[in-house]
Amino acid sequence: MDLLRSRRSVRAGFLKDVPVPEEHIQQILDAARWAPSAGNSQPWEFIVIRDAQTREKIVEIYKAQMREKIEIEQAARGQRSFVDSGLDFRHAPVHVIVLGDPRTTDAYPTRTRLDKWESHFYGSLANCVLQLLLAAEVLGLSSMYVSDVASPYFSVMLKSLLHIPEPLQVYHLLPLGFAKRSPTMRHPRRALEELTHYERYDAAKARSDADIQEFMATQSIRGSQYRW
Ligand SMILES: Cc1cc2nc3c(=O)[nH]c(=O)nc-3n(C[C@H](O)[C@H](O)[C@H](O)COP(=O)(O)O)c2cc1C
Repeated sequence: MDLLRSRRSVRAGFLKDVPVPEEHIQQILDAARWAPSAGNSQPWEFIVIRDAQTREKIVEIYKAQMREKIEIEQAARGQRSFVDSGLDFRHAPVHVIVLGDPRTTDAYPTRTRLDKWESHFYGSLANCVLQLLLAAEVLGLSSMYVSDVASPYFSVMLKSLLHIPEPLQVYHLLPLGFAKRSPTMRHPRRALEELTHYERYDAAKARSDADIQEFMATQSIRGSQYRW
């Protein structure tokens, strides 16, 4: 329970001079491959990047795509500040890119493939990523999600840079490194009693639109109380 509670997305404080042993990476990827997947389809593959120049190129692509992301956010919602989780991940000595192979959806029964291939495919990849993050936490390493890699520009650029063949999809990038954790880091969770219903849905706990807005304004990354 302590481990599950203490894992955090670490967006600042990666120690660039502290190397990550290869044995740790192997253990982390081994944990990830044991994740449950729909139909045991195991749609994941990993690219492990240690080369500093390649990591720097990835950061350059990140910066280029961020300009558009911020511009869109500004135009659509008049906000910009929270969309950029920063460049500190550049200091993590290892970047792991998780790829998904959509051909594996053939493992599902036909109806499942037709009506919910996406939730099964991405749910499987998400399980793999979470096991990877938890294994990193066990070993004292920090990480975060760089999910922008899946956006069209970023993924096309990465496919070209890293020679990723079609039809593989770029899913997430997870930097791995030892990090100094900030005392301001605060990523709150909703209270258990608020979100758990017993035997049937408890209408008294149903959230109104205003409740959701209040939640976004306090506990989500859009909120002023969220601490990176
Ligand atoms: C699907 C998914 C995509 C995410 N993408 C990003 C991202 O691109 N950048 C980032 O800094 N955090 C990203 N996050 C991390 C969440 O913001 C974070 O998990 C959440 O705020 C809770 O904080 P914690 O991970 O420290 O517990 C992502 C998380 C998930 C599950």
